[in-house]
Amino acid sequence: MAHFVAHGSLRLDGIVPPEMNEEALSFLAAGVPGIPFGTPVPDAYPEGSLPRRLLGIPQVEGALRSLVGPDPLVDHHAVHIREPKEGSAQPLHADAIIDVRGRAFDVQLMYYPQDVTLEMGGTLSVPGSHLRRVNETDTGRYQNLLGQSRLVCPAGTVVFLHHGLWHGGRRNDSDTVRYMFKIRFNPTVRQQLLWDTSDLHSPEVHEELTRTFPWYEQATGRLEIYNRALMWRFLTGDARFDLDHWVTRVTNEPTTAAPSTPTPTSTPSSPSTANATTEFERGNA
Ligand SMILES: [Fe+2]
Repeated sequence: MAHFVAHGSLRLDGIVPPEMNEEALSFLAAGVPGIPFGTPVPDAYPEGSLPRRLLGIPQVEGALRSLVGPDPLVDHHAVHIREPKEGSAQPLHADAIIDVRGRAFDVQLMYYPQDVTLEMGGTLSVPGSHLRRVNETDTGRYQNLLGQSRLVCPAGTVVFLHHGLWHGGRRNDSDTVRYMFKIRFNPTVRQQLLWDTSDLHSPEVHEELTRTFPWYEQATGRLEIYNRALMWRFLTGDARFDLDHWVTRVTNEPTTAAPSTPTPTSTPSSPSTANATTEFERGNA
């Protein structure tokens, strides 16, 4: 979970069995009809259907439950097809408008049923960008960012993305059609302590949460780490969790009155004090 909070994604390489990948290629090529927004999984994908079996793979089921909890809704799904030598790439974007929710988040499952080579133009993403809120293609003019990732993966790979992660489909320069199946999920429960938390307080968790990425400059990195601390508070329910004192400092607005002090002995105002008051009042007039 700390990896997901820092990176904005979780990658599970080659976890779908080869026979299901074979089946998926023809399933996706035939097209998958749309469903109404916010459909429960059992209604969207009947028992035995390929998407339902995909969601039943233990690693997929466990990751989804850890991230959004039981009984998520299917926001929407889509088959993404990159034709051979199609000549253009998708601009860098987030699949979201500026999302003003507190810390709750959707996840997008991306399933790659075939080997994806660099030439096939795997999905581009920018690790650690998910908490930098943008409006859809606001980031479209950025062509390449330091530390960006182009997905090259074996068949049967599933990646989960935070809805805010900056990403885009790269141009397919190969002779092979590239398929990807995307499903976006909305949580229906509070996303708190939904994963195996037996190592919640291990030093590796703190280390992961303070990880920086090459596109950060110093001030940027501080903002991302601040936002991660807020996200970790939300995920754990620990209202005092912090990283390098950032949230504690920024939320420090004491409301306790100072202890009363003895009243000073009253003395006549000096002329200079009286003048200062007059200047102050004149300035406010
Ligand atoms: Fe997208």
